[in-house]
Amino acid sequence: MQIAVQIDPLRSATQALRRDGPLALVPTMGALHEGHLALVRAARERAAHVAVSIFVNPRQFGANEDLAKYPRQLDRDAALLEAEGVSLIWAPDAEAMYPEGYATTVAVGGVSSGLCGDARPGHFDGVATVVLKLFNQVQPDLALFGEKDWQQLAVIRRMARDLDLTGPHPDRIHGVATVREADGLALSSRNAYLSADDRARAAALPRLMRAASSAIADGTAIVATLADFKTALLAAGFESIDYADLRDAVSLDPVSTLGPAPARLLVAARIGGTRLIDNLPI
Ligand code: PAF
Repeated sequence: MQIAVQIDPLRSATQALRRDGPLALVPTMGALHEGHLALVRAARERAAHVAVSIFVNPRQFGANEDLAKYPRQLDRDAALLEAEGVSLIWAPDAEAMYPEGYATTVAVGGVSSGLCGDARPGHFDGVATVVLKLFNQVQPDLALFGEKDWQQLAVIRRMARDLDLTGPHPDRIHGVATVREADGLALSSRNAYLSADDRARAAALPRLMRAASSAIADGTAIVATLADFKTALLAAGFESIDYADLRDAVSLDPVSTLGPAPARLLVAARIGGTRLIDNLPI
């Protein structure tokens, strides 16, 4: 496994790897957990080689979000990725990614607004910008992203269509199903911030989401189901709810009646000061 930290060695490495067949990219910010490893395993099934980028992207952190505190553990991450058969790690520093004078931002309209876009202004511009740069740097045949960050996936898919990133590979932006703990809680690096009590209570989120999503699929009124869902979340120990909404799975437009287009229940709620997000298909 090679580790590139500058663009020129990266380009030579990816050029050589592409000779063997399709190259898959798994973009990450490091601090890897089983959810990331599931992306790597899905990538290995689809490509001859897998490259993983590890870059804590300052442009997707808000002023009130602690970029300095984000865990950085390249040695541990590299050992995990080597064991998974990854061929290349792309680990630029901030200067290699955004050199002096850097001035370009990618803003994807529509899907970036609302939901997490309200609580984290500018976050999806930062994500879109770095993901487009990663595509240009690594030039993968496909890239894999977790469905847990559904809005992020929707933003990247919209950008890929709008900026012609979709190439000959039919599934160049590939979403991978959320990996969950035994009690249903979606894996996230933020789960580590939960106390033991809050961690136990947090299992109410996927349980109540499943109940709400089944009720809506069975025809129960959407507005009333979402109101009951929010009340139940607060009763289960969540202190606040940023949103709990039914949205079109692609455009993220609000859905007030179920139609033929796929819909998604999307939730962000706080417990013990930690903001958890999750989503389920209807
Ligand atoms: O999901 C993440 O870890 C990040 O948002 C991504 C896609 C690697 C961009 O920095």
